[in-house]
Amino acid sequence: MSAQALPKGFLAESLNRIQPSPTMAVTQKARDLKAAGVDVIGLGAGEPDFDTPDNIKEAAIAAIRRGETKYTAIEGIPELRKAIAAKFKRENHLDYRPEQTMVSSGGKMVVYNALMSTLNPGDEVICVAPYWVSYPDIVLLGGGKPVIVTARMEDGFRLTPEVLDAAITPKTKWIVLNQPCNPSGACYTREQLKALTDVLMKHPQVWILADDMYEHLVFGGFKFHTVAEVEPRLYERTLTMNGVSKAYAMTGWRIGYCGGPEALIKAMAKLQSQSASNASSIAQWASVEALNGPQDFIPKFQKIFEERRDLVVSMLNQAKGIECPKPEGAFYVYPTIRKLIGRTAPSGKKIETDEDFVTELLEAEGVAVVQGTAFGLSPFFRISYATSNDALEEACHRIQRFCGNLA
Ligand SMILES: Cc1ncc(COP(=O)(O)O)c(C=O)c1O
Repeated sequence: MSAQALPKGFLAESLNRIQPSPTMAVTQKARDLKAAGVDVIGLGAGEPDFDTPDNIKEAAIAAIRRGETKYTAIEGIPELRKAIAAKFKRENHLDYRPEQTMVSSGGKMVVYNALMSTLNPGDEVICVAPYWVSYPDIVLLGGGKPVIVTARMEDGFRLTPEVLDAAITPKTKWIVLNQPCNPSGACYTREQLKALTDVLMKHPQVWILADDMYEHLVFGGFKFHTVAEVEPRLYERTLTMNGVSKAYAMTGWRIGYCGGPEALIKAMAKLQSQSASNASSIAQWASVEALNGPQDFIPKFQKIFEERRDLVVSMLNQAKGIECPKPEGAFYVYPTIRKLIGRTAPSGKKIETDEDFVTELLEAEGVAVVQGTAFGLSPFFRISYATSNDALEEACHRIQRFCGNLA
């Protein structure tokens, strides 16, 4: 049966302003091909391949058994808000009272709540390319204007103070600063971050959305710092966000959280009270254990990811025409294919964009990666190395073969 067309004008105009998540689309395409029997290695998904640690699962099971299965406060259960405040103090040296914290259904919803509850038509939000795919679309959904600035590969994919300063206007409401960055893996030293916060100190109208989702995934002794820690005078206009998805291998539990000025938290809670209400009560109890319980698997995850990063960077740099910088963190690499533009794939198709490259790579070798256009910086592609070493090695061999076969 064919899908029934909706009446003209039925869908919201705002929906025309946004795209479905391209990373989720690649993941789904890889899944579909696999289901159809094609030998596909999916390197599109941004989630750890590890299972959620047992102590966290047990905490959820215990919560169910205790009957913690009802609505909770909109902002989250007091136990989790206390654990979040303690986490911010312990790991980021930030003083947030529990009332200054809030829990949402995933980190994405924290970003959504923050932007949707503050944006008015014409408000500008600075997004740093390459960016996490959702920022510009959420800004557009909220009626704001994404202002894209580029963090160049030559600068380690880090925003420079000059570029930041030039992008700020009287209409700038937010800058979204994500580090370690999805998709580039770039992270800032204290000094590099301070150079940016010095610029932000000159512009009191600009608020900072510090997306620290990958905070725990930094390698080789790199030290993570967050914005309000480096410049305490920005505390009053910073929303520090984080979540359990990446650090605790809990992507499916859907818990994200933030700390910020109480008045902003109240506005975000008002919005959430008319959408999701509260995040899952069971997942909130699991997150209490994630934040308060043993943290010893974090360095174990870190070590495994670091080895994989080194493997992937080294093998990709051996692929003809690919240049792959070594990132400080997250579980992504963001190589450029600038030397491959104009070459011809085995199918006879000329590679003119990074989209052509990823399509041909999937067709020819069954390796699913995401095109740089999705992240606002071309010609690049993103590999998520949150998968087994065997799969990564095989995928990199295939990429090497694909590049070697380009005419
Ligand atoms: C930079 C960044 N921020 C936020 C999120 C949202 O995470 P969650 O799965 O908790 O919604 C992601 C997930 O991919 C991300 O990469």
